[in-house]
Order: sequence, then C-alpha cells, then structure tokens
Amino acid sequence: MQRLEDKVAIVTGGAHGIGGSIAQRLAEEGARVMIADIDVEKAQTTVQEIRDAGYEADALAIDVSVHGDIARMVETTVSKWGRLDILANNAFDVLSGGQGDAVQVSEEAWDKGMAVLVKSMFLSAKYAIPEMRKAGGGSIVNTSSVHGQLMAPGVLVYEPGKAAVIGLPRQMATEYGPDNIRVNAILPGHMVTERLQKAMWDDNPSGLACFANQYPLRRVGRPVDIGNAAVFLCSDEASFITGHSLVVDGGLTLQIQENFGVRQVHYYKEHPDTVMPY
Ligand code: NAI
Repeated sequence: MQRLEDKVAIVTGGAHGIGGSIAQRLAEEGARVMIADIDVEKAQTTVQEIRDAGYEADALAIDVSVHGDIARMVETTVSKWGRLDILANNAFDVLSGGQGDAVQVSEEAWDKGMAVLVKSMFLSAKYAIPEMRKAGGGSIVNTSSVHGQLMAPGVLVYEPGKAAVIGLPRQMATEYGPDNIRVNAILPGHMVTERLQKAMWDDNPSGLACFANQYPLRRVGRPVDIGNAAVFLCSDEASFITGHSLVVDGGLTLQIQENFGVRQVHYYKEHPDTVMPY
C-alpha cells in the first residue's frame, strides 16, 4: 500500500527543483498532486513526467504573492479532486535578489520578498485549513532553510523570511492540532537543483566539490532528499509530529555549531573573567 493513498495535495513552486521533487515523491506515494507555479509551462512538463510514470497530477498557473491566486489554487484543487489533505508551501525564486542590508534594500523588494516567502503561507492556510477540517485532518509542510536559523549579513529578506517560515508552523501547530492538522517546516541545506547547477557550478565543477567537502556527509543535497522528508512528514508515520523543524542538511549546521562552541571555549580560556560573549 502507498503511504499517501487517496490523499490530495497542493505543491507551490512544484515545477522545478525541490518543489518538483516534492510533487513527484508525493505522487509516487499515491497522492493526487496539483502543481501551482508561476512557470506553468515547466509545471506542465513536470505533470507530464508524473503522469508518464503512472501517477496523477495537474498544473495551475499562480503567483503565490497574489491573494486571489491562492484562493483560486485551493478552490480549483478541491473542485477537481473533492478534498484537500496536504499543502506543501515551497515557492520562491532563490535567484531573485533582495540582497543587501536595511540601508540598501528597497521597501518594494522587502514587501515582494516577504509576500512570496511568508504572507503566502498565511494566505494558503486561510483557504486550506477549512478544506482540511472537512477532510478530517491534514498536513502542511513549509520549505524553510538552514538560513532560517543561521543568519548572514547582506541577505535582509531571505534570512528573516525563512525564520518566519519556521515560526509560522509552530504557531499554527498549536492552533490546528485539535483539528488533526499538523504543520511542520523542512530546513534544507544546499540542494543542487537544475537551476543552481546551471547558475553556479556548470562552469565550476571543482567549486561544487569544495562546497561538498564542507559537509560531514561529503556531498551536497539532492532535491529528492527534501521530497523524501516531505513524504515522511505528510504520512501517518509522522502522525505525532507537529510544529517541528526538520533539518535536512547532511550535518552541515551541526558542524558550524560545533565550531562555534569550540570558539566559545577558546574565548573563555583567553578571557576567564568575562561573561557569555554571544
Ligand atoms: P527553484 O527556483 O528551482 O524552484 C522554485 C519554484 O518556485 C520554481 O518552479 C518557480 O517557478 C516557483 N516560483 C517562484 N516564485 C513564485 C511565485 N511567486 N509564485 C509561484 N511560484 C513561484 O528553487 P529551489 O532551489 O527548488 O527552492 C525551492 C524552495 O526551497 C525555496 O523556498 C527555497 O528558498 C528553498 N531552499 C532551497 C535551497 C537550495 O539549495 N536549492 C536551500 C534551502 C531552501
């Protein structure tokens, strides 16, 4: 028996990369999957691949930063398949910019980035939750990032945006637990998607090897690593897991925290009279 038999799922940003893999894995486990993406042509290609493999999917053109599109996404899915059990909020253009500090980033770039990253998750819940209640429960999985926990300068929109994507599931888990609706976040490390491969490493294969070397598991992630995590969180095997932040990063952030701890120990040795420096 498939792990998501008879379930109906929406995956935003499911045309490419991580979202494409989430859509594919959910379908392989028996879910009927609506891929809601701004790039409908690519979404249709991914849908065709899923259908060719013998599973069920459809595509819908939406922009997750537009309120009406989110409402239409839920309505269309429910009118096609009669219910909604799974929502994977994943859409974002990782190469879209929004970099800089508070002095540099424009109000427009902030508003647009936060609308795609964070507000879309509030709005999709607004429409998905009533349908999940009717279905007797559900699972929401939000793609955050290890950058929701580890902050870096020069990325004002992405880092706090992804931190909010960790906070939202925690709040919503307390709100909708009594409805048997679980809400979790996945925190990927670096995943080599087709687009990142082209943009960063096609011309620089040794750069990718160096990058992989930072990982305890000595490889960077594959989109299917996140697809598999999403299947687990949406399945009954995770029926007692909610409000959780599942780090899927090959141990990357453990190592950074360990280094951070080592730095602290050295600091205390050199400055025995000081209090906690961080
Ligand atoms: P990608 O660029 O390959 O795929 C993103 C998808 O979202 C595309 O299909 C794109 O058309 C769609 N999209 C973008 N803006 C949209 C909008 N306004 N409305 C609807 N669809 C929209 O990106 P990737 O790498 O697969 O990232 C997916 C998610 O994973 C993002 O939330 C990203 O922040 C997160 N992530 C990615 C990591 C990586 O290393 N690739 C690491 C950590 C998190």
